[in-house]
Amino acid sequence: KQEEKIRPQCLTEYIGQKDLKDVLDIAIRAAKSRQEPLDHLLLYGPPGLGKTTMSLILAQEMGVKCKIASAPALERPRDIMGLLISLQPGDVLFIDEIHRLAKVAEELLYPAMEDFRVDIPLGKGKSAKMQSMSLPPFTLVGATTRVGALTSPLRDRFGLIQRLRFYEIDELTEIVLRTAALLKMNITQSGGEEIARRARGTPRIANRLLKRVRDFAEVKAFREIDRDIAAEALQLFNVDPCGLDWTDRRLLSFMIERHNGGPVGLETLAASTGEDAQTIEEVYEPYLMQIGYLSRTPRGRVATAAAWKHLGYTPPDTHQMTL
Ligand code: ADE
Repeated sequence: KQEEKIRPQCLTEYIGQKDLKDVLDIAIRAAKSRQEPLDHLLLYGPPGLGKTTMSLILAQEMGVKCKIASAPALERPRDIMGLLISLQPGDVLFIDEIHRLAKVAEELLYPAMEDFRVDIPLGKGKSAKMQSMSLPPFTLVGATTRVGALTSPLRDRFGLIQRLRFYEIDELTEIVLRTAALLKMNITQSGGEEIARRARGTPRIANRLLKRVRDFAEVKAFREIDRDIAAEALQLFNVDPCGLDWTDRRLLSFMIERHNGGPVGLETLAASTGEDAQTIEEVYEPYLMQIGYLSRTPRGRVATAAAWKHLGYTPPDTHQMTL
C-alpha cells in the first residue's frame, strides 16, 4: 500500500532518466494523436531504477490498464495465453525479466506482438492444425537486466529499446526528499543527500535506506533527520559512505586478499563468496563498475586501485596491475 503511494504517478512526477522521458513523451503524444496503442517497448538496465514504475506511468498517461507479469511465472503456454486474452484494447502488458521467458511462451508472443494474434494448436504433434485468434491491439513493455540475453527475434519485435541509467546524487536527493514528504518525515536537505550518496545510484535502494533511517530516528527520538543522523543510522546498517554493503565489500576483499586484485573468474567469485553468479553479475557488478571499483576483462574480474584504497589496502604498483 505504502509502496504504491510513493511511486510517481505521471511522467512529470518521475525524477531523472531525462533522455528516456523525452523519448517516451514523444511516443505517448504521437500514439495518442493517432489513437493507437504505444509501440512495444523494451526497458533494460540494473534492477531498481524504475522499469515497472515507468510501465505503470505509461499506462496511466495513455489512459489504459497495466497488467504486470514476471517471465519466470509464465511457465506454461496457457499462462501467457490467459494474460493475452484478458487484455482490453490499448492495454499495457508488462513482463519483467523477459529474458527468462520459456521458449513456448516466447513463440506465442511473436504473432501477438506483430499481428495481435495468437495461434492455438488443435491436437498434438507436428501435424496439429492451428487455430488463430485475434487479440485487441496492446503494448508489450518488456523489462530486463540483460538485453544481450534476449533472442534476436524477440528483441527485433520491440519498436523502442531504451536503457535506464544509474541516477545522479542530486536526482536521488530529490527522490529521497519527495518520499520523505509523502511519509511525513522531517528531514534536512543534507540528510537527504547523505542517504542519496549511499544509495548506489538506485531509487529503490534510496527509499529502502530512508526507511531504515526513519526507524533509527524514531527509536532514538530524533525530531529531525540531518546528515549526521543519516550517516550514523546507515553506518549501523553496514552501508558505507559509498553505499557499498557487506556483500560488495566481501566480493572486493576476496579479490584483493586471495587473488591480489584479480583477474578472478565469475564462477570462482560466486563459489568462494557463496553468492549466486547471476546476482553478482546483474546486481552487484554494475554499480561497482559504474564507480570504477571493478572492471571486467577477458580473463575475469579485476578490483581497481580505487577499490583497494577504499577498503584500506595499499594497491600494488600500478605498473604491475592487470587492468
Ligand atoms: N521513486 C522511485 N523512483 C522515482 C523516480 N524516478 N522519480 C520519482 N520518485 C521515485
